[in-house]
Amino acid sequence: MLEQLEKDLQQAVDEAKEAIVAAHTVDALRQAESRLTGKKGSLGKLLGLIGKLPKEERGPAGKRINDTKNQIAGLFAEHHHELEQSADKQAAVESQTFDPTLPGPVVARGSLHPVTVVQWEIEDILARLGFVVVGGPEMETDYYNFEALNIPEMHPARDMQDTFWLDNGWLLRTHTSPCQVRAMEKLGPPLRVIAPGRVFRYETEDASHANTFHQLEGLMIDRHISIANLIAVMKLILTEIFRRDVKVRLRPGYFPFVEPGFELDMSCEICGGTGCATCKKSGWVEILPCGMVHPNVLRFGNIDPHEYTGFAFGLGLTRLAMMKYGVGDIRGLNSGRLRAIVRPEQRDGTAIVQKDRPES
Ligand code: FA5
Repeated sequence: MLEQLEKDLQQAVDEAKEAIVAAHTVDALRQAESRLTGKKGSLGKLLGLIGKLPKEERGPAGKRINDTKNQIAGLFAEHHHELEQSADKQAAVESQTFDPTLPGPVVARGSLHPVTVVQWEIEDILARLGFVVVGGPEMETDYYNFEALNIPEMHPARDMQDTFWLDNGWLLRTHTSPCQVRAMEKLGPPLRVIAPGRVFRYETEDASHANTFHQLEGLMIDRHISIANLIAVMKLILTEIFRRDVKVRLRPGYFPFVEPGFELDMSCEICGGTGCATCKKSGWVEILPCGMVHPNVLRFGNIDPHEYTGFAFGLGLTRLAMMKYGVGDIRGLNSGRLRAIVRPEQRDGTAIVQKDRPES
């Protein structure tokens, strides 16, 4: 008899498991539980049979039936809990309204430094005239920085550029002009090159002077190059960068590596030419010194000055960026403080310019 009871009890447990899997709601689960454990359920029927068992079997049989009843109740309770939890989650999801058309959170984008933007623009402009970009080392030799530029040792022009000397006799280049003779040696005539880069001077900083700033050297050498070519290229650079006519003045300037030499100043964009700290109250900013390449420099570059002539310029790239973006103090450009280089009307923090690196 007891053997048969064990089989019936196992069947009751199996039925309970099947009913639990089939019940997807708390209500359905409750109904299944009362169906199985109620009087008319399989367990209830087994309890009803106890009285018909021999006396000595009634105790153990009753205990087995109760144990199984508890086991089944435990299975139902467990699933009950799971169903309640998933019902809560479902209710939470349904109570939230989700609008997939709403814009996502604003992600602040970085932008290029104004000096980089101006540099790339000039590279683009001059590439159209056949100029190629070349480079040179920031740690330079005395030879390329001074001597090959017609500034021998003891020449007073060395004082024009306060120099950081290195222990090994080299120096941090004071201008991008060393790239001139390097390019002549490497490429030979005719040539059209530009050399943008960082330069260093041991000088006191103020609104328009930094000890580390950027220049962009330009050099064109060919037969019959004249001052007219030089002025045409200068004009092109400035009108394309400012996209309008800018007021400039050309005056004689002394640089041992050009003859004749010029200083090209532009009307100060910060004060409109009335005078301010940036232009030292003069209304003008030195931006584009230039001239015809000195015959001695051509010779240093192994070029025959009787056959070739050329012009060179040394654009103050950092100052040009200041003029273009209305940055009154050069220290702002090197500070990393966004507010220092954002025009007042852009103080909401929007980027000054977004521009992709030109191909080529
Ligand atoms: C030179 O460095 C010459 N190599 C330029 C040159 C090249 C002349 C080829 C002729 C032919 P200068 O020292 O003036 O020149 O500097 C050139 C430009 O760099 C200046 O006009 C100015 O715009 C910028 N500059 C000079 N010193 C500083 C400084 N401390 N901080 C920021 N910009 C400067």
